[in-house]
Amino acid sequence: MDWSLETWVRWFAYSSLLAEPPYVWGSTSQQVMLIVKLLKKYGVRKGLVLDAGCGIGRITVALAEYGYDVLGVDISPKFVEMANERIARAGVEERAKCVVGDLRRIQEVVMEKRFDAIVSWFSSFGFYGDEVDKSILRGFAWVAKEGAPLLIDIENRDSVLKARGYSLDYKWTLEHDNYVLLIESKYDPWTSVDKSTVNVYEKDVTGLKTVTKMPLQFRLYSLHELNKLLREAGWLPKEALGDWEGNPFKPDSPRIISVSVRE
Ligand SMILES: C[S@@+](CC[C@H](N)C(=O)[O-])C[C@H]1O[C@@H](n2cnc3c(N)ncnc32)[C@H](O)[C@@H]1O
Repeated sequence: MDWSLETWVRWFAYSSLLAEPPYVWGSTSQQVMLIVKLLKKYGVRKGLVLDAGCGIGRITVALAEYGYDVLGVDISPKFVEMANERIARAGVEERAKCVVGDLRRIQEVVMEKRFDAIVSWFSSFGFYGDEVDKSILRGFAWVAKEGAPLLIDIENRDSVLKARGYSLDYKWTLEHDNYVLLIESKYDPWTSVDKSTVNVYEKDVTGLKTVTKMPLQFRLYSLHELNKLLREAGWLPKEALGDWEGNPFKPDSPRIISVSVRE
C-alpha cells in the first residue's frame, strides 16, 4: 500500500496529532493572518481558495471566516468528516466545504473549478519525492486562474538538518492526551528524503502500551530546489518568508513559506 494512504487514511486517529500537533494549534490565528496578508498582497481579497491538504479544516474555516470561499481537499476521509463538522460548528457552510481527494489527481477532484488562490499549509507538500511533487504542482497550475498565487508552507531542510546536528538518524517524541509518538527518522543525503517510523504508544497505569507503527516520509526541500520545481511546473516564484511571523527567509529559518504565481 502507498505509504501516504496507510498513514493518513488508515491511522488517522493518531496521525491527527501529526496533522495538527498542539504547537501548531496555538498559533493558528497568527498563521491565518499571514496567509490573508499574502493573499491580499497578491490581489486576492475575495474569491475561491483551494486548501490543498486541508486536514481537519483548521485553515479552511479560518479563511472562510475572513470572507473567502474555500474548498478543502484531503486524502483522509476521517479528517474531511471532522473538517466538515468544524465548518458546520463555525456556521460557514455557505463559504466552505471539504471533500475527499488525492492531490496527485486534483483535476479529477475539482473538475471544472478554477481557483483564485491555492494554499498548501503546514507541511502538506513534499510527501512523494521530486517527480510526483512536481506533477502535483502541475496539477495546481492546471486548476489555478492565471496570476493566482500559490502559498506553500513547508519545513526548511537546512534548518531541520541543523537542528538535528547534521546527523542522518534522529529520534524525537510528541505527546498528546493519552498518546506518545516516538518518531525515528533517517535522512538520505542523496535524495533529501527523510523516512520516519512513527511508533504510537498509549499511556496506561503500567506505563506505555504499543499501539501501532506507521510510516511517514518527506522530501525535505531547500528554497532553490523548491523554486526550480515550481518554475518547471508553471509557477513563478515571487518571494519567500521564513516563519509564521512573516520574517524574511534565511538559511536557518524554520519554514519555507513560498509565494509563487501561476504564469
Ligand atoms: C500536516 S497535515 C496539514 C493539514 C492542514 N493543512 C493544516 O494546516 O492544518 C498534512 C495533510 O495532508 C494530507 N495529505 C497527505 N497526502 C495527501 C494527498 N496525496 N492528497 C491530499 N491530501 C493529502 C493529510 O491527510 C494531512 O491532512
